[in-house]
Amino acid sequence: MTTQEQDKNLIRLNKLLAERGLASRRGADKLITEGLVVVNGKKVYELGIKVNPFKDKITVDGKPLKSKAENIYIMFNKPKNVITSMSDPLERPTIADFLEDVPARVFPIGRLDWDSEGLMLLTNDGDYAQKVMHPKTEVTKTYHVKLEGQPQPYQIKKLLTGVSIPGGRVRAKHIEKLKVAKVKGKKTSEKNDWYKIVITEGKNHQVKEMFKKIGFDVIKLHRVAIGKLRIGTLGRGQKVYLNEAAANRVFLSDLPEEVHARRDVRHKSTKAAEPSANRKKFDKKLNQG
Ligand code: URA
Repeated sequence: MTTQEQDKNLIRLNKLLAERGLASRRGADKLITEGLVVVNGKKVYELGIKVNPFKDKITVDGKPLKSKAENIYIMFNKPKNVITSMSDPLERPTIADFLEDVPARVFPIGRLDWDSEGLMLLTNDGDYAQKVMHPKTEVTKTYHVKLEGQPQPYQIKKLLTGVSIPGGRVRAKHIEKLKVAKVKGKKTSEKNDWYKIVITEGKNHQVKEMFKKIGFDVIKLHRVAIGKLRIGTLGRGQKVYLNEAAANRVFLSDLPEEVHARRDVRHKSTKAAEPSANRKKFDKKLNQG
């Protein structure tokens, strides 16, 4: 392993593995801790280790690290009863079954439950995956859910103010009741409301846990958008390759105009407010320092 402190080509091993399309950075850390990564003939277990991609000989699971792959971005409509993973020791259906003809090793960004369906992103671009998943990026995820029952407005309001679920406190950024069109010849139940909910966090089973918290089971869950990238008419089990511009639509917020406007008003009024005496003193001190 390269030890020269001043080597400008040094890069973190997990970043390099992600760049070469092996996994997300977190996934690369897993490969390292599992002892699958060998640098110059030695297994490495140390997370955060730096290597020189031009000099160091790196193998993963016995195979030499490939040169930088072309970035691939895929939008996939996951059907129900399929696992969000590229392999399954129990041999249940996985998303990999639908992606056999993809000419690169791609991995899913985030997950959907076994019984959830809808938009999933897959890529071999670890940096992109990292940015989409990072909590600070606040990528909006939009879901349509069918509930067992009909919540009262005050219960829905709770989801907007925030609820505690396993994994932490979360809140819906937007929520609205959906009107479900009556399908001829099909019974539409009066007992089940449909809601559209937009969240930016990504806790496990987040949407189900949020509704459970206000006393309602989610009986159907579709992810219809990530940012402004929408699933549209893409059929179940179908995929499309995205160009970079389309892939970057996930970073555009999918909140209705009035939600943005409310944010702006709050922002403007704080800005316009006359600073308090304490704040002035604090600012003066900062400027002097
Ligand atoms: N929230 C859930 O509860 N399940 C999913 O699959 C996605 C979000």
